[in-house]
Amino acid sequence: MADLCHLPCGSIGAIGIGGRGTAILKQAAKFGEVVAVCDVDQKHAERAKELFGGRPDTYQDYRRLLERKDVDVIINGTPDHWHTAINIAACRAGKDLYTEKPLTLTIDEGKQLAMIYLLPSAIVFIKASSRATFSGCFSARLVVSPISASKS
Ligand SMILES: NC(=O)c1ccc[n+]([C@@H]2O[C@H](COP(=O)([O-])OP(=O)(O)OC[C@H]3O[C@@H](n4cnc5c(N)ncnc54)[C@H](O)[C@@H]3O)[C@@H](O)[C@H]2O)c1
Repeated sequence: MADLCHLPCGSIGAIGIGGRGTAILKQAAKFGEVVAVCDVDQKHAERAKELFGGRPDTYQDYRRLLERKDVDVIINGTPDHWHTAINIAACRAGKDLYTEKPLTLTIDEGKQLAMIYLLPSAIVFIKASSRATFSGCFSARLVVSPISASKS
């Protein structure tokens, strides 16, 4: 059986690149190419761009990043109150998703988020520390994602 830790996960776009988002992105970069970074704070976006050799494009509006067809996986490292809106938008855009906890802030957000499961191709991974590994998260995409299958 192949070593899943060394399989790629596709092109990565990161939204919210503060403390946690940057740490996640460094891990994710072992499994795919970081092609786009987005933060409302332009300095944070520029810092992340530098971290990856100046290669990723920078955005301040996550909706513009989600319009990109070449981004396969979204990493959501924004603050708690942005999780639901961005997670739903990412899945609607056909992206696979890694999101930080908490998944939701309210019961109503939970109901909205449940609609994601009606979308056939999204893989959603919610990270809670010590409950899962990065390699399990990012490498799984290549193996089970219908998005990957349809693009290959
Ligand atoms: N799994 C864990 O163990 C763990 C640990 C720490 C933090 N977290 C979670 O990670 C998330 C981020 O925490 P942090 O400590 O990195 O916060 P942070 O404030 O350092 O980073 C958040 C970043 O998101 C940016 N941002 C805010 N709104 C945005 C938007 N609409 N679009 C794009 N960028 C936006 C901010 O400018 C900032 O750079 C929180 O939800 C927190 O609960 C999880």
